[in-house]
Amino acid sequence: MTGIKDALGRPLRDLRISVTDRCNFRCRYCMPEEVFGPGYPFLPREKILRFEEITRLVRIFSGLGVEKVRITGGEPLLRRDLPELIRMISGVEGIRDIALTTNGTLLARFAEALREAGLKRVNVSLDAIDDDIFARMNGGRSAVRPVLEGIEAAARAGLKVKINMVVQRGVNDGQILPMVRRFRGTGHILRFIEFMDVGNNNGWNLEQVVSKREILERIHREMPLEPVEPSHYGEVASRYRFQGSDEEIGVISSVTDSFCSTCTRARLSADGQLYTCLFASEGYDLRGPLRAGESDEAIAERIRRVWSRRRDRYSEERLHHAGIRKRRKVEMSYIGG
Ligand code: GTP
Ligand code: 5AD
Ligand code: SF4
Ligand code: SF4
Repeated sequence: MTGIKDALGRPLRDLRISVTDRCNFRCRYCMPEEVFGPGYPFLPREKILRFEEITRLVRIFSGLGVEKVRITGGEPLLRRDLPELIRMISGVEGIRDIALTTNGTLLARFAEALREAGLKRVNVSLDAIDDDIFARMNGGRSAVRPVLEGIEAAARAGLKVKINMVVQRGVNDGQILPMVRRFRGTGHILRFIEFMDVGNNNGWNLEQVVSKREILERIHREMPLEPVEPSHYGEVASRYRFQGSDEEIGVISSVTDSFCSTCTRARLSADGQLYTCLFASEGYDLRGPLRAGESDEAIAERIRRVWSRRRDRYSEERLHHAGIRKRRKVEMSYIGG
């Protein structure tokens, strides 16, 4: 039985799996140092799903219509033996796309093994090409170079690479054009992400959001763009290409032009909680049933029930209902973006 739909008619197609809530960066918009310091209660090991448990869930989700799996964190490459998990998931029938979102610092070390394990593509976060600006954003944890080396190693290993840049006005918006110039001609698709109010700690306000429209205008003035059709239903990024070329960029506009109406994504936290929205307050426990020895069919039935009741559309509501922003939300580093 495949193809379940939620209460707003949206199918379940993608599963984003967080494999750890830890990260070697402290990006201000995600894990600010003051909050995620030495005393922060990260998940204890026994609560974190083992690879066999994750793979079993992927198999169950695949039976419900999931075709695309994305591994996230925290920083997923901090999880030991991650290529082994990729190999296990690659073997699950029905999974057609498996990808990884990473900050890139450990990619040079793992690119080859990931590729051999069956990974096809990586999305690497890089918010600036200037070292000072980048360091300011990531909590002083890294220069640009290790990330560029990770990107190059990934490309050499045969992985398709996209670069994700979160844009924050007054922080790194001056890097939009330098980033475009740097990555044009490399074959990697650069994507700009509107700064979002994820979690409870990133000090978000609307003034710091540079809209999709403004981002495109700034680029277009120097390098004219034209729109490209979406490659699949529910694609998160709007695509554009430089006129007269097949080189693309993308913009992810969760704030000013949201995409909830085609949102096909479920999220699984490292400790086995199922979330039906990036901005959800609460998850639904799957680890308990998994460890209590429930059958695949019983677990599938739980997921079906949760998905069939799903009405989340936070990004569409955000601008019109100020109250919704006061609700407590899950942290991005825990749920994986
Ligand atoms: P592709 O499969 O390559 O298109 O990747 P993706 O864009 O779906 O995933 P990625 O991890 O690279 O995410 C890029 C940005 O989009 C991040 O800032 C995510 O938080 C954001 N994003 C992804 N899915 C959603 C979503 O369902 N809702 C919102 N609001 N943002 C999302
Ligand atoms: N707003 C937008 N994007 C964010 N990311 C992390 N926090 C935010 C935020 N507040 C991005 C990361 C990574 C992806 C998974 O989500 O930079 O590219
Ligand atoms: Fe780590 Fe990514 Fe969050 Fe930065 S955005 S702190 S790299 S999980
Ligand atoms: Fe999906 Fe929630 Fe993001 Fe809307 S805000 S696109 S419902 S995850």
